[in-house]
Amino acid sequence: MFYEPKNGHGLARDPIKACVVPRPIGWISTISSDGNANLAPFSYSNLVGTDPPMFMFSANGAHLDGGAKDSALNASETGEFVYNLSTWATHEEMNRSSLHVGRNEDEFDLAGLTKADSVVVKPPRVAESPINLECKTWKTVELPAATSNDHNIMVIGEVVGVHIMDDAIKDNGFIDPVLLRPLARLGYLDYSVVDEVFTMSRPK
Ligand SMILES: Cc1cc2nc3c(=O)[nH]c(=O)nc-3n(C[C@H](O)[C@H](O)[C@H](O)COP(=O)(O)O)c2cc1C
Repeated sequence: MFYEPKNGHGLARDPIKACVVPRPIGWISTISSDGNANLAPFSYSNLVGTDPPMFMFSANGAHLDGGAKDSALNASETGEFVYNLSTWATHEEMNRSSLHVGRNEDEFDLAGLTKADSVVVKPPRVAESPINLECKTWKTVELPAATSNDHNIMVIGEVVGVHIMDDAIKDNGFIDPVLLRPLARLGYLDYSVVDEVFTMSRPK
């Protein structure tokens, strides 16, 4: 099939999220300008640069109260956020932290997660997550939106601090992805977990 998004797809469910898979799940922690901690998963997220390392996530739609989602608002207002790697060990907690709740509600508490202090930025890290990237917001980009109620905001940050669980680093100094079992988002309500890896050298 072929379709132009502006003309509709004709399928039972919009297939677009199933067309770019697997997507990493950036579990984003922030604090509001008045000090409330916030946590939410974003599968529109990725590392987008290495030197300096840059990370982006994109919040789409709206918060319960009609404004931009907390994560985008906080990262924009305070200039800081933390990426936490989402893994199989906390898949239920990750899902729970996606609940649409009031601005003052702390999703760490809601999901039963522990806060760990960050080093360079103020938002706490998810202690149960084996990798955390402390980020300073570099730019926020307002993306096109289908309706005036939507606030589609891409947040791009520079990674200023990197935490890696010591046990995840093998004797050869490489991170072991199978040990971490990262989660990936597929289309619809489907997920995948990385538990198999193959290695391929670049052509010379
Ligand atoms: C696995 C997963 C991935 C998600 N990815 C996104 C995303 O990329 N963009 C988005 O706007 N919402 C996404 N959501 C929904 C948000 O997590 C949800 O709207 C959340 O309440 C936003 O919280 P906040 O207002 O505290 O930022 C995702 C939810 C789940 C469970």
